[in-house]
Amino acid sequence: MTLPSNPLDYSGKTILVTGGGVGIGRGIAEAFANAGATLIIAEIDADRAADVQAELPDAHVVVCDVLDRATPALLVEKVKAVSGKLDVLVNNVGHFVHALPFDMLGGDQIDEILDVNIGQLLRMTSTMLPMLRAAAPGSSVINVTSIEAYRGIPYCSVYAAAKAGIAGFTKSLALELAPEGIRVNDIAPETTDTPQVALDVMIPPENRANMDKWIPLGRFGTPDDCAGAALYLASPLAAWVTGTAIHVDGGALAAAGWTRTPTGEWTVVPMVTGNGLKIPGR
Ligand SMILES: NC(=O)c1ccc[n+]([C@@H]2O[C@H](COP(=O)([O-])OP(=O)(O)OC[C@H]3O[C@@H](n4cnc5c(N)ncnc54)[C@H](O)[C@@H]3O)[C@@H](O)[C@H]2O)c1
Repeated sequence: MTLPSNPLDYSGKTILVTGGGVGIGRGIAEAFANAGATLIIAEIDADRAADVQAELPDAHVVVCDVLDRATPALLVEKVKAVSGKLDVLVNNVGHFVHALPFDMLGGDQIDEILDVNIGQLLRMTSTMLPMLRAAAPGSSVINVTSIEAYRGIPYCSVYAAAKAGIAGFTKSLALELAPEGIRVNDIAPETTDTPQVALDVMIPPENRANMDKWIPLGRFGTPDDCAGAALYLASPLAAWVTGTAIHVDGGALAAAGWTRTPTGEWTVVPMVTGNGLKIPGR
């Protein structure tokens, strides 16, 4: 038995979470803080930053925009000042930005979706590498992709392309960094209740009654579900895990269209209309 007695003890570890003010990033930040980590949180929204700072007074919350080309270097300075090394980089920021049919997206909108979802993540990872190397072997990168990296989604094709791109980046970077003992993995969530994907807004009232039938495990995700995956992936429990993804999806990808009827029978026959992404006139 070579595992430490408490493999989820993050005392002495420094962790950077992008977009840690609410949602999945907040859940991940809270979990690492509860496990003893020193946290740096990059958050664009000043109110959300203040809120997470109030809950996690020991965290180093930096109000910044990860799309800004100057931000990664600014965060490196913060990491240097805090501990001189980075054990875990959690690239969490991402957004649909524009939910539109592909032929309705302008070039600027396409660029925007790509930068929010993959451009900034590549720049952040590249700039953080010296700090991750200072903590190697044993440091790691966790990229928050989406179940849409592994399945299609209408009206979000560029978002899905970016998320699938992150999955490809993860695999290749994992190979490059493996000799140095730095691991790179993805968390791929299915629909998770956050301010960006607020279930009470997304799901029409007439469809709510059967919410427990859509996902095999009987519910949508919470930020804690992704936090559990992050705690595992960054820990010695995952010492031989790199270049892969954890689908935090309640079994949705395995179901691949199978769902249960209101009376509990399995079916692949469509039962509902409207999906929260309905485009007028289509
Ligand atoms: N919620 C879901 O159902 C779901 C499903 C699949 C994938 N994801 C992915 O999970 C990640 C987190 O999603 P979420 O639902 O928690 O999002 P969210 O919008 O609820 O929270 C994102 C946080 O990041 C901050 N942020 C946004 N842009 C930023 C920027 N440029 N710089 C710094 N901070 C910024 C926001 O203010 C917010 O605090 C994203 O990558 C998203 O694509 C979410």
